[in-house]
Amino acid sequence: MASLIILIGLIALSSSLAMAADHGPLQDFCVAESSSQVLLNGLACKNPSMVQASDFSFSGLHIAGNTSNAVGSRVTPVATTQIPGLNTLGISLVRIDYAPWGINPPHTHPRATEILTVIEGNLEVGFVTSNPDNRLISKILNKGDVFVFPIGLVHYQRNVGSGNAMAIAGLSSQNPGVITIANAVFGSKPDISTDILVRAFQVDKSIITNTQSKF
Ligand SMILES: *[C@@H]1O[C@H](CO)[C@@H](O)[C@H](O)[C@H]1NC(C)=O
Repeated sequence: MASLIILIGLIALSSSLAMAADHGPLQDFCVAESSSQVLLNGLACKNPSMVQASDFSFSGLHIAGNTSNAVGSRVTPVATTQIPGLNTLGISLVRIDYAPWGINPPHTHPRATEILTVIEGNLEVGFVTSNPDNRLISKILNKGDVFVFPIGLVHYQRNVGSGNAMAIAGLSSQNPGVITIANAVFGSKPDISTDILVRAFQVDKSIITNTQSKF
């Protein structure tokens, strides 16, 4: 009986883990039909007989992103918007470029675990575990190093070199989603009430209004 309960527990655990990212496909592919008006979880499928190699490809990932912005980094996504054939497949890719000392600011992917490898330069990376510990797990990565950011956790990268840096990352969703913490909290439209943020961050109102004005 005890072993049966353990077995059922393991099956429940493995199926809940399998559900942690996108659902498995029920057909070879479902190339997104961009003109479809049908709203569903994912995107409607193009007629399979009309599918071409171009539905499964993207060009230009060798081109560096423009890092001339406030944070000094640029993410070039290759998700289902760029490759319609990724629809329902539960995977995507990004290129991230970093100016010297540029950051990819703290953010979370609500639908994906991320696995990142450094192609050029050196990065400080980290993620924070959920409440109550909020433990920071961080590391300096060199060229060729690989690091994992578990699904849903707040994470960041910073170029710790004087040259440019570049990384490639795989994500376990066709559409990982990005929530940049500062933009979501201080740059929502309309603003979250200043009083709420004053109390949440335990700082003076002027600091909140000043921060809100920047996002
Ligand atoms: C990079 O972005 C900046 C700021 O938007 C812009 O002024 C500049 O022309 C861009 N550089 C290139 C090469 O596109």
